[in-house]
Amino acid sequence: MSYEYATVSGVKEEGRGVRTLWFQWERKVEPGQFVMVWVPGLGEIPLSLSSTDHTKSITIKSFGPVSEAITRMSPGDRIYLRGPYGRPFTRPTGQYLLIGGGSGMASLRPMVGPRAHAIISARSKDDLIFRDAFQPGRVHVTTDDGSEGFKGNTVDFLRTFDLSGFTEIYVCGPERMMFSVYRELRSRQVNARVEFSLERLMKCGIGLCDSCSIGGYQLCRDGPVFSIDELDRMEEFGRSRLVESGRRITL
Ligand code: FES
Repeated sequence: MSYEYATVSGVKEEGRGVRTLWFQWERKVEPGQFVMVWVPGLGEIPLSLSSTDHTKSITIKSFGPVSEAITRMSPGDRIYLRGPYGRPFTRPTGQYLLIGGGSGMASLRPMVGPRAHAIISARSKDDLIFRDAFQPGRVHVTTDDGSEGFKGNTVDFLRTFDLSGFTEIYVCGPERMMFSVYRELRSRQVNARVEFSLERLMKCGIGLCDSCSIGGYQLCRDGPVFSIDELDRMEEFGRSRLVESGRRITL
């Protein structure tokens, strides 16, 4: 695999354990696409970009040795990348809604624009990210412990929320949360186009190893963004996934 490198130009603490790293990278990337980020000696992981402008960014929470090494990077460090890969979000056509859980807001962040509304959920106030990116009154916050905004989870709030004015809904977060959102949206008359950004074990990122297969799709090539109609055909969605050891675990 051949990598390019970029130099980290800035780092920002977004929330508890979540950091954004900024870097210049000349590649064109569409919102929702991902890159493979390599840390020499440790391995590589797929990450969606949290900014796809001229200055790019990734926003990451530590969940293993590679991500931990990335979160410890400082300005001046080199970041090794390949990509971008995968199918992006479709472009919005009207008022649209972003539904993000925890650090899942990172891949929705490039979708923020003048017609964007958002529901941002986290366990607690300190875990919320990117709520300041939205115009006042267009962002709704939920926390499990009630430390900010609505007390409860995303779906508890969604049940009280009118979705009729949106032409598109984009969802990203922990899979159990996305599965609950999927079921809620399927139980209602929703006219909007709905897309979810999924995550699976990824090794090659380019359709060779099949580690990312889900419901007959390869997540790295056919996703990571899928429409709600495609999710209808994925039996594993919200139920199970493969882990590094090759074992299938229940979600
Ligand atoms: S990650 Fe290898 S086929 Fe998708």
